[in-house]
Amino acid sequence: MMNERLENAFCVQINKELYSAYLYLSMQTYFKEMNLEGFANWMNVQVQEELAHAMGMYNYVLERGGKVTLMNVEKPDDIWESALNVFEKVLEHEQYVTSSINDLTSVAEEVKDRAAISLLQWYIKEQVEEEANVSNVLGNLKLAQNDPRALLLLDRELATRTFVAPVIA
Ligand code: FEO
Repeated sequence: MMNERLENAFCVQINKELYSAYLYLSMQTYFKEMNLEGFANWMNVQVQEELAHAMGMYNYVLERGGKVTLMNVEKPDDIWESALNVFEKVLEHEQYVTSSINDLTSVAEEVKDRAAISLLQWYIKEQVEEEANVSNVLGNLKLAQNDPRALLLLDRELATRTFVAPVIA
C-alpha cells in the first residue's frame, strides 16, 4: 500500500516526464524542419528516454498497489530561435526536473518509503547524466555558434546517439 501523498507526488512526476517527452518532440520537429537530422535524432532518443522515465514510475506505483492518475500534458513551446537557444532550454528544463525529483525523494523520505527512496536513487543518478550530456552539447554549440561547418559536424556526431532502454530499479 502506498502513502497517498507519495502516490500523488509520483503521479505529478509522471506528468512532468510525459511533458518532457512532449517538449523534446517539439524540439525534434524544429530540427527536422531545419534539416538537422543529427540534432533531431538526439531529441528522438531523448523523447524515448523520457517515456521510459514516466513508465518506470507508472509501473512502480501500480506494483505497489497504488493508483495512477493521469493528468493533462501541457502544450510545449514550439517556437525556437536556434540550436543554441533549444539546448539552453533543455538544460534549464533538466535542472528543473532534477529539483523536482529531489522534492519527490524528500516526500518518500518523509513518509519513510524505503522502496521508493531506493527507486528514486536511480532517477537521481540519471539526472546527473542527463545534465552532463546536455551541458556537453551546449558547450559544443557555443563553440560552433558562428561556424556552419562546425554545426554540421556536430549534427553528424549527434546522429550516432542511440536509445538503449534503461533498466530502472
Ligand atoms: Fe526524465 Fe530528462 O528527465
